[in-house]
Amino acid sequence: MATPLIRTAEEIDLDALYDVCLGTGDAGEDGSHLYDNPRLLGEIYVGPYVMLPSGFGFTVVVNGHPTGYLLGTLDTRRFEAECETAWWPELRKRYANPGPNPATPDAQLTAELHRPQLASDEVVNRFPSHFHIDLLPTVQGKGVGPLMMDRLFSTLEAGDSPGVHMDVATRNTRAIGFYEHLGFSVVESHDNSVIMGKHLARF
Ligand SMILES: CC(C)(COP(=O)(O)OP(=O)(O)OC[C@H]1O[C@@H](n2cnc3c(N)ncnc32)[C@H](O)[C@@H]1OP(=O)(O)O)[C@@H](O)C(=O)NCCC(=O)NCCS
Repeated sequence: MATPLIRTAEEIDLDALYDVCLGTGDAGEDGSHLYDNPRLLGEIYVGPYVMLPSGFGFTVVVNGHPTGYLLGTLDTRRFEAECETAWWPELRKRYANPGPNPATPDAQLTAELHRPQLASDEVVNRFPSHFHIDLLPTVQGKGVGPLMMDRLFSTLEAGDSPGVHMDVATRNTRAIGFYEHLGFSVVESHDNSVIMGKHLARF
């Protein structure tokens, strides 16, 4: 494998990053069999971090092609508010609200952009920042994840964040082990996922 380069993610990367999101969208495994619309997952979980002022993102590039990302925000509440004013309205125009009982995976995703699940006060008060990391299989297990996490921790430290959290599927035991290895622990449990959090060193 050519040496991976980690750089800031930009708008021009979005299509490739949406592919990464779909390619890791089934609890860390390829999710492309789940959805009819291959862009929807990325439009919800990637786009706003790259495009909105309170988001940030890094991508790992191999042979000129983005093959993974780490996306986040210092301030979850500000990010949620920016999504509400500057990201969800356009998607809501394009994808009609499927109503209270969405039947298909696409409809369930569409419901999320009409009724976004906000982080709880208990989590945000202690861990106000959050992030997502996803690497395609070609760059997994090669030390890229820890390098991306170093970039995350530097960004959070520069922004004086007291703590960071993320949401991970309960069946994604590999990622849970990865986060535990980095000092994260479970701070909230949901039906199929857990929220893991970490206080940052200087607080
Ligand atoms: C999870 C992921 C980010 C990890 O990144 P990675 O670069 O593949 O990480 P590695 O497997 O090389 O492991 C990095 C370190 O974590 C440790 N680690 C990884 N998985 C572990 C586990 N299950 N238990 C304990 N330690 C683990 C490794 O031993 C290694 O430690 P070291 O740096 O001290 O040698 C990456 O594999 C990925 O993107 N997977 C698919 C998408 C995904 O699941 N994203 C998370 C969604 S919440």
